[in-house]
Amino acid sequence: MMVLEVRIAREDELAWANQRWAEIDFVTSSPGRDLIVIAELDGTPAGLGRLVRLANGEVELGGIVVFPEFRRRGVAEAIVTELVARIPAGVRAYCLPFEHLESFYARFGFARLDDRQAEHAAPEAREKLAFCRRTYPMSAVLMAR
Ligand SMILES: CC(C)(COP(=O)(O)OP(=O)(O)OC[C@H]1O[C@@H](n2cnc3c(N)ncnc32)[C@H](O)[C@@H]1OP(=O)(O)O)[C@@H](O)C(=O)NCCC(=O)NCCS
Repeated sequence: MMVLEVRIAREDELAWANQRWAEIDFVTSSPGRDLIVIAELDGTPAGLGRLVRLANGEVELGGIVVFPEFRRRGVAEAIVTELVARIPAGVRAYCLPFEHLESFYARFGFARLDDRQAEHAAPEAREKLAFCRRTYPMSAVLMAR
């Protein structure tokens, strides 16, 4: 049986995490700003995720990546479960998944914002949506919980 553990990244792991994100054209994290978690399968790093603190006190759950050899074993599910548990009570959280993953994030209570609702989202969330749309060939959606 494999042991799956999700833990908070140490400060000295930030450069490695940023390198893993940069490899797949994901935004990187600034030191001290984000809560980064690392999933390990039997002690081997298998994936990453983070909560980004926004200027208005809201958060963005993102940076979810599971390294190719560890996919389809529930690692992303474990990462998102851990991050959602760390969203402070009453704080609004956004996430910007690729469209084919909308139903996955819906399991955690995220709901897609339509264009009118998105106009009222935090500026960073709207900017991130614009970034995703111009950066990735797959379409991204803005969700909140
Ligand atoms: C998307 C990704 C994070 C999924 O990681 P994973 O560990 O394989 O996911 P899990 O095994 O925890 O599966 C969770 C759910 O995600 C969904 N899912 C995973 N891979 C999927 C795929 N290729 N297509 C559609 N849905 C998928 C499924 O709903 C799955 O639930 P199920 O197993 O009950 O069907 C991983 O494929 C990845 O890192 N991809 C590249 C980066 C990326 O797209 N990140 C997400 C940005 S929003």
